[in-house]
Amino acid sequence: MDLSFLERLAKQFDRVVKQFERLPKQFGRLFKQFERLAKQFGRLVKQFESLATQFDRVFKQFERLAKQFERPVKRFERLVKRFERLFKQLEGGRINHYSRSQKILLVGEGDFSFALCLARAFGSADNMVATSLDSKGSLMTNYSKAMTNLLELEGRECKIFHKVDARVMRYHPYLLFMRFHKNLVRRFFISAREMLTTDGEIHVTHKTTYPFSEWKLVKIAEDVGLYLVGEERFSLFDYPGYENKRGAGICDQTFPVGMSSTFRFAKNYLYC
Ligand SMILES: C[S@@+](CC[C@H](N)C(=O)[O-])C[C@H]1O[C@@H](n2cnc3c(N)ncnc32)[C@H](O)[C@@H]1O
Repeated sequence: MDLSFLERLAKQFDRVVKQFERLPKQFGRLFKQFERLAKQFGRLVKQFESLATQFDRVFKQFERLAKQFERPVKRFERLVKRFERLFKQLEGGRINHYSRSQKILLVGEGDFSFALCLARAFGSADNMVATSLDSKGSLMTNYSKAMTNLLELEGRECKIFHKVDARVMRYHPYLLFMRFHKNLVRRFFISAREMLTTDGEIHVTHKTTYPFSEWKLVKIAEDVGLYLVGEERFSLFDYPGYENKRGAGICDQTFPVGMSSTFRFAKNYLYC
């Protein structure tokens, strides 16, 4: 038996045993590294989860903001369109339903700012007659801009008359508020109808919400032989310079127009 061969074999065996002894330690180290990696991964997953929740929250806030912005943006767009329409009309001597080619009679003016708004759109107002129930003197006392508005209207050749009662009868102080107004409108319709040409129109701008809707404007008109030929939403933006006034005691104060329409009536049913 070759002894040196046995010795080599024993040494090799010894080396293998030592390597084998080192294996569990290496395995232990690897396992610890794996544990650390798993923990880091767990932390990353949690961070990712909280990021996702934060992102979700921010996204929802953004959605809410976008919704809140939607309405003002739409309103702004509508406003821009209105202004565009207005500028086009003004260029062509028109403003909404009204043009220089029509003969226009205005009754119940306050500080004459509505008449002036039309007159400015037409350039010259020789096609207009503007009237107030108030005398010139009381207009000057009650409305801060009445004098300048009237002067400009006269300069634009608008015919102006004061103390014109649309009912052609005296105001009865004891009648109920509502009855007074309804009666005023009725009497106005009767006298205006007499003055109307075949294709002429009577325009009344009126609030459409309760209790004003109770006036039943269209019914009053129909009762005196007038027909509704159109109803358009009224907006102050369409009449630059016009300041709606209260009249009656607190004359120069304005009031919210709210939901209002311009009702157009004609005496000829076929005209609709
Ligand atoms: C609410 S204010 C409106 C004033 C103006 N039209 C405006 O839009 O600013 C009502 C107006 O109707 C007028 N009025 C009241 N009764 C009238 C009548 N019988 N005939 C003509 N105008 C009348 C008043 O003098 C007052 O100026």
